[in-house]
Amino acid sequence: MDQATDKFPNGFLWGGAVAAHQIEGAYDVDGKGLSTADVLTAGNQRTPREITKGVKSDQYYPNHEAIDFYHTYKEDIQLFKELGLKAFRTSINWSRIFPNGDDVVPNEAGLQFYDDLFDELLKNGIEPVITLSHFEIPYALYENYGGFRNKKLITFFAWYAETVMRRYKDKVKYWMTFNEINNQMDTFEKLHAWTNSAILFEDGDDKEEVTIQASMNELIASAKAVKIGKEINPNFQIGCMMAYVPVYPYSCHPEDMLAASKMMERRFFYSDVHVRGEIPSYALKLWEQKGYDIDYSQEDLEILKEGTVDYIGFSYYMSTAVTTLSGVKGTPIRDYPYAKVVSNPHVKANDWGWQIDPDGLRYTLNTVYQRYNKPLFIVENGMGAYDTVENDGKIHDDYRVSYLEAHIQAMFQAVNEDGVELMGYTPWGVIDIVSFGSGEMEKRYGFIHVDKDNQGNGTLVRRKKESFAWYQNVIEQNGLSN
Ligand code: BG6
Repeated sequence: MDQATDKFPNGFLWGGAVAAHQIEGAYDVDGKGLSTADVLTAGNQRTPREITKGVKSDQYYPNHEAIDFYHTYKEDIQLFKELGLKAFRTSINWSRIFPNGDDVVPNEAGLQFYDDLFDELLKNGIEPVITLSHFEIPYALYENYGGFRNKKLITFFAWYAETVMRRYKDKVKYWMTFNEINNQMDTFEKLHAWTNSAILFEDGDDKEEVTIQASMNELIASAKAVKIGKEINPNFQIGCMMAYVPVYPYSCHPEDMLAASKMMERRFFYSDVHVRGEIPSYALKLWEQKGYDIDYSQEDLEILKEGTVDYIGFSYYMSTAVTTLSGVKGTPIRDYPYAKVVSNPHVKANDWGWQIDPDGLRYTLNTVYQRYNKPLFIVENGMGAYDTVENDGKIHDDYRVSYLEAHIQAMFQAVNEDGVELMGYTPWGVIDIVSFGSGEMEKRYGFIHVDKDNQGNGTLVRRKKESFAWYQNVIEQNGLSN
């Protein structure tokens, strides 16, 4: 098929995405409180990040400085402007605004920082796209309340949302509530319980029940934020934010199909509630079967109904596959001991084992659009890779261009051949940032290189990679050209 130009909708939001804790640094200045991201040590491909009790002087915390965007945002925005970005997705670092999470009065210096940042973006023709909670919950909410397992956090989040939505009502139109809210449901691994919900599991916890309770609390908090936001400014566009990793059946065995579909329920549960405003029957049945006593009231159910989202923001990096067949190696799946997650022999993976599958993006766009009939927004996509700075300072990142080109082509087909309504595309880590999963700097996504290594050494100097000119052209042409 020809790669046509000018075929994305008018006003398509070509952009770039980051999160506050992965870019800003300045973790303890101007009244900011500690966040859950500030107690995560550095890791790498083989070593998981650790969560420490408070900040320890003998540990390295890569998010404390990150790429120092807090102090460099004006120069960085000039690069974004040159790149041609129409939109820039970042988050508000909750603990800059409410250092303890339960404060009544917001921290003015924190609010002022985002005023200045949004002004700078708008002055340069870039639309801010803002996530309210992107893995940076105030640490004190863990210490004093146990994180989102506690229903009090619904009120604290709603007050935070109201405060920033009121403050920025004329500067920010596009909002999202909780980043990749569904991550926590897959494996109950320590990192996601912490980053999604500020929860550390305790002895005696039924991890699934605790996660479902925290998830319900977040879904109610999200719906409150949507409702409040719409009262503040009816023109707001408020979305949810999902991690969609499509699960394929490894074979056409009916049990593989069933296992894949059951695994997808763990993702769809979240968008089903966000979009339809009610708890799906498969979830209610599961809770009943397992004897879970999930605490929510009639009033909460009404809030869910009143606070449904305008669009579905989502990240797409990879696909995965499951099988029930014996003789194929894999990782067993919770609740389906006869099924396992396996690698897909038809796709390649990056250095971190993430399977590269552009068709999976088209499949996801179709599946989600058909399920909900709501506008979609790809707010993260990309491939983490090691980059080499040559002696002449150049960075030849053709692998990044290949990955993104294939995904933009898939997105093009979804829009133009399949009729999917897509608002925009903000590839992840437009400028190099600290990796969320591994805490590395050297797992890079950006079009702009930042001179810093995994140990925190470097000048922080910014350099345009070869992909910079390529993406600039994509935006200019409103699509791929050749
Ligand atoms: C998503 C997160 O999970 O994936 C981002 O929303 C994260 O915060 C991104 O950075 C890529 O993951 P990683 O581990 O490569 O940084």
